[in-house]
Amino acid sequence: KTISLIGAPTDVGASVKGAGMGPDALRVAGLNEALEGRHLKVIDHGNLHGPANPWEQPVNGLRHLKEAIDWNQAVYDAVDNALQNGHIPMMLGGDHCLAIGSISAVAEHCRRVGKKLRVLWFDAHADSNLSTISPTGNIHGMPVACLMGHGPKELISYGGHTPAMKPDEIRQIGIRSVDAGEKKFIHEMGIQVYDMRYIDEYGMRNVMSSALAGIDSNTHLHVSFDMDCLDPAIAPGVGTAVLGGPTYREAQLCMEMIADTGLLASLDLVELNPALDLRNQTAILAVDLIESLFGKSTLVRM
Ligand code: ARG
Ligand code: MN
Ligand code: MN
Ligand code: MN
Repeated sequence: KTISLIGAPTDVGASVKGAGMGPDALRVAGLNEALEGRHLKVIDHGNLHGPANPWEQPVNGLRHLKEAIDWNQAVYDAVDNALQNGHIPMMLGGDHCLAIGSISAVAEHCRRVGKKLRVLWFDAHADSNLSTISPTGNIHGMPVACLMGHGPKELISYGGHTPAMKPDEIRQIGIRSVDAGEKKFIHEMGIQVYDMRYIDEYGMRNVMSSALAGIDSNTHLHVSFDMDCLDPAIAPGVGTAVLGGPTYREAQLCMEMIADTGLLASLDLVELNPALDLRNQTAILAVDLIESLFGKSTLVRM
């Protein structure tokens, strides 16, 4: 297997600056070497280019719309290219608005090759805001809504199909901060959310079995991993930390259960903010989890 690393160094969708340094922090933490250690071929395409962060106020409920459109187009093209080459694209954010371009390309690929799509969205947040209900206007709070066809037209039509994907193709895990308008949206769309209460009650093992239920050898599994999903005690390097996330052990189990399916075909690693990190510990943690995601285990030698 070949991994295409695609750096998308921007924070145009975020509420604080710094996520644009994420791709390089992951490289410094040893991402490339860790993947090679998993016997994967790694092609690091370096970092994409796009507009600077103008740091402006929201216009009509959207902050930096033009910049978000351009960055997502660059991500769409790079992820699409990796998939056409038969590679596993790994999009290194950058903020979570970039999942719009990434997952739009993945969904289009699935239509092209006739695969079923399952997206696992790890996040403290629902990222299901619309310009009309967002308390901030930050587009990193809107990618799920955009992928479901609700958002500015440029952000919902990258692959030519709107909506890019259907609500029953996504599972959200680790959620614990949902805005009032998002609650209504999630309910109306019927999105399956495993929030922290659910994880506490049923345990991560049951959550993951349920989130992975129904997949088969014809499923393209995409993981969109927002680093703020994790408890801030272990992952302080994020811009929008929320208390009470999964522990290190729970996160490892998630990664291992995904690896066991053998179906992981694309990945987003987003919202890492090195400016808020402590000696790169959150990037190092991300690399550690990615090793498990690609099959590293304690006893079974592979
Ligand atoms: N719900 C909040 C908002 O819309 C926070 C979103 C945080 N999203 C993220 N990808 N970290 O602004
Ligand atoms: Mn997010
Ligand atoms: Mn098409
Ligand atoms: Mn988040």
